[in-house]
Amino acid sequence: MSFAASANVVVRLRAKPVFVDIDLHTRNLNVDLVPAAITAKTRAIMPVHFSGLPADLDAVHALSAKHGLRVIEDAAHAIGSRYHGKPIGSFGDLAVFSFHPNKNMTSIEGGAIATGDAAAAELFEQYRFHGIKRNAEGEVDVLFPGAKSNLADVAAQVGIDQLRRLDGFNARRGELAARYFQELAGFAPLVLPARGDSGHSWHMFTVLIDFTAQGMSRPQFQTAMADRGIGIGVHYPSIPGLKFYRQQGYREEDTPIAARVGRETVTLPLFPAMSDEDVARVCRELRAVLK
Ligand SMILES: Cc1ncc(COP(=O)(O)O)c(C=O)c1O
Repeated sequence: MSFAASANVVVRLRAKPVFVDIDLHTRNLNVDLVPAAITAKTRAIMPVHFSGLPADLDAVHALSAKHGLRVIEDAAHAIGSRYHGKPIGSFGDLAVFSFHPNKNMTSIEGGAIATGDAAAAELFEQYRFHGIKRNAEGEVDVLFPGAKSNLADVAAQVGIDQLRRLDGFNARRGELAARYFQELAGFAPLVLPARGDSGHSWHMFTVLIDFTAQGMSRPQFQTAMADRGIGIGVHYPSIPGLKFYRQQGYREEDTPIAARVGRETVTLPLFPAMSDEDVARVCRELRAVLK
């Protein structure tokens, strides 16, 4: 249960992504299911901090230590999230952030990798710009054919400004999420997300709806809400059910909770400029559209 990029990046390395199912409420990796997926060929565990709720990193690190695996956190949603009070990105191995415009902070496009591994950091610096390494005199050498993945200066300046405002953005997101919980408590058609604690970045507020029971399709629901002036997103269809992955032989049924979430999930509006009244209006319209 993630954006396709989480798996595409593995395929592009000509490695094989192995999907492990999620927990229905946290939408995060169900770590209990990971051991059965580990083989002699496994190299890394990639938890996604879904919607900014930190995955169970203690359990993931216990498994990675036992099996000698890297941990690559997909922290695209989790800039500013905290686990045991410490920021995501400070847990030692690799955490990858996205600064795409729909994220909690943006550099228009771009991202960052946080790591405690100095050798990996040096490799990434070389990889992002043609494999170039400068010697002590400043002369250029090329160690391998790297990429052109450097962040442009203008984008970096946007990101620096956004970073200064991130705590304020996330605090407001947390307040808005709390209002959603208040307004929607006990509203039967919805399965609400796990609340987590203050370490949640609230990148998204996603709820599950049984559209069969509602007698409408998800697109019909989205259209009904759009007609009332409210944009509803879908994050995400489950990756094994996407065409490319089906063609590779993956089956959605093998990760049934992710498949269910993929069918039933919708994302309610949540952005720092929303007012409390905006949240109340979204909830009123939800009650009008759903049985
Ligand atoms: C969970 C997740 N992983 C990875 C990505 C990829 O990030 P980017 O678009 O910055 O490459 C995204 C979003 O775009 C995402 O939501």
